[in-house]
Amino acid sequence: MCGIVAACFKKGDVVPTLVEGLRCLEYRGYDSAGLAVLASGLPVRKAKGRVQDLAALLEEDPVPHSSVGIAHTRWATHGVPSKVNSHPHRSGSVVLVHNGILENFEELKESFLEGGTEFVSETDSEVWASLLDHELTKIRAEAPLDSLGVMKALNRAMAKAKGSFGLAILVEDLPGRIFFARHESPLVLGISDKGHYVASDVQAVLKETHDFIYLLEGNCGWIDDSSYQVFDRDLHPIEAKVEHLDWDAESVGKSGYDHFMLKEIEEQGIVLANTLSSTTSSKDRILPDFQVSEDTLRSFDRIVIVACGTALHAGRLGRFILEEAAGIPVDVDFASEFRYRNPLVGERDLILAISQSGETADTLGAVKVAREKGATAVAICNVRGSSLCRLVADTILTQCGPEIGVASTKAFTAQVLAIHLFAMRVGMARRQMGEEELLRRLNVLRASRTAIETLLSSEVRSHIAEVAKKYAYKSVYFFLGRGPDYPIAMEGALKLKEISYLHAEGYPAGEMKHGPLALVSEDMVVVALAGQGETYDKVLGNMQEVKTRGAKLVVLTNTEKKEAIELADDVILVPRTDPLVAPLLHVIPLQYLAYYVALERGCEIDKPRNLAKSVTVE
Ligand code: F6R
Repeated sequence: MCGIVAACFKKGDVVPTLVEGLRCLEYRGYDSAGLAVLASGLPVRKAKGRVQDLAALLEEDPVPHSSVGIAHTRWATHGVPSKVNSHPHRSGSVVLVHNGILENFEELKESFLEGGTEFVSETDSEVWASLLDHELTKIRAEAPLDSLGVMKALNRAMAKAKGSFGLAILVEDLPGRIFFARHESPLVLGISDKGHYVASDVQAVLKETHDFIYLLEGNCGWIDDSSYQVFDRDLHPIEAKVEHLDWDAESVGKSGYDHFMLKEIEEQGIVLANTLSSTTSSKDRILPDFQVSEDTLRSFDRIVIVACGTALHAGRLGRFILEEAAGIPVDVDFASEFRYRNPLVGERDLILAISQSGETADTLGAVKVAREKGATAVAICNVRGSSLCRLVADTILTQCGPEIGVASTKAFTAQVLAIHLFAMRVGMARRQMGEEELLRRLNVLRASRTAIETLLSSEVRSHIAEVAKKYAYKSVYFFLGRGPDYPIAMEGALKLKEISYLHAEGYPAGEMKHGPLALVSEDMVVVALAGQGETYDKVLGNMQEVKTRGAKLVVLTNTEKKEAIELADDVILVPRTDPLVAPLLHVIPLQYLAYYVALERGCEIDKPRNLAKSVTVE
């Protein structure tokens, strides 16, 4: 949460790049934004609200022309969203932007207050600026300040700071350089002929460069317009590896769509094709680059999936896929719960962490706990070089390109596909599946693109938009599914609640009679997943239970299911497919439904209130 972008150019004005970088990072936080440039007195501009509010302020009250600057978009943790609490923060000669949480800020603030320091904001980040300024003052007393002196001060401050941080810093008496540090908050360096960049993620500067250094835990250093230096946590200089990223710069734009979410929903056919082609060889070898050996994959007694939110729902569906294909017991847990219950895991467990961003603090924490207990961890992740990728034995990289809408859509599809491939790999290793079955499954996955494209057609879309309009002002939604459709029901409910602010629950259809049936009234919409599969008859019974009690019934089914169609107030038809991929297809109409309900209600679809995309705090 919070986005940082900073740049040092050889020439030219840095402000347009900073503002554009903030726009690309706005999904990380959007309650206020600010920047500072290298000019006399290190001028700062801040605005409560969106990046566009900062841009408007800069038109009215521009900063002096400068080719060096730091900028920030905020997702409030300490202190309300306001101009004064927004970044950059200043203390003495230090102006900085911070992503993360300074956990011991109260204690530090207390001691600085006693020493006479004054604070203007309620934030922990201002205390970070003060902490660094105090360390710089001590260094200045030892010798004239140079860049190495700043590194020493930063290193001392890092040792005193508890919590997570990504920092970009200007120091008034050392112009021309931006200093940086990271611990448990992502930070990358961008390298180009024009100059150098520091950013929370690559998206911020993808229009400027495709060459990146993914900083490691405890790294710190500086950039200037023609060089950069990275140090480890013991202040030893390190040779950081520059990696070329082939993401298309266009992918961080909306390509004519009104919202990123809609664009990302409609990219799911391509995501499927890309993920499959990048994870199978020309000879149909599955995950040819995956480094964990067949022997190792055979050696586990259990797989434990840890993830959050949408990725967790992919994991819940993944449990069905893995148990069926690989014949291995699978447990699935909220990453945020797993780490706090002294989980019984050990050497015979394989941890599968799923995360779009690879920076979710809860997921990283769960993996760390499992590894400390001797488990092997692997990941499914969309961001090469992310903290999660570094933590695990190997990663299956999904091929979504950047996902920018806060509500995750295409990442879910890619995660489920990656689980299928992983399940096939584990199934082969454990001799639960032969070559012929593997090829059959691969063909089913490939062929599902046609069904996905059907669901993404304008006819389906406009029909769902009509249904959404009809029910947009009902107050409660229940999404019902059974078996592998239950995680899809949960995902449908999550999508709706996060972008339309309606109360929505995903429930196993058979559980309604054990309590929630008492809630059913005419103000409730029940979305029932009644596709193919052995539970169809049971779901039909559950649909009758809610219908007779007055709920409005929207049913996802296929043309053959006449009874379901007759019972429904509204029907969303899905193509009949192999059961292997049916649940995956069902998610697409639910994503559209959430989108159109939110649109009808006038909600901010790509930036829902109180949320941010990359949840780097616990
Ligand atoms: C929901 C959503 C979140 C994320 C969750 C995990 O639409 O986006 O629930 O799925 O915060 O994020 P990652 O996958 O980045 O670990």
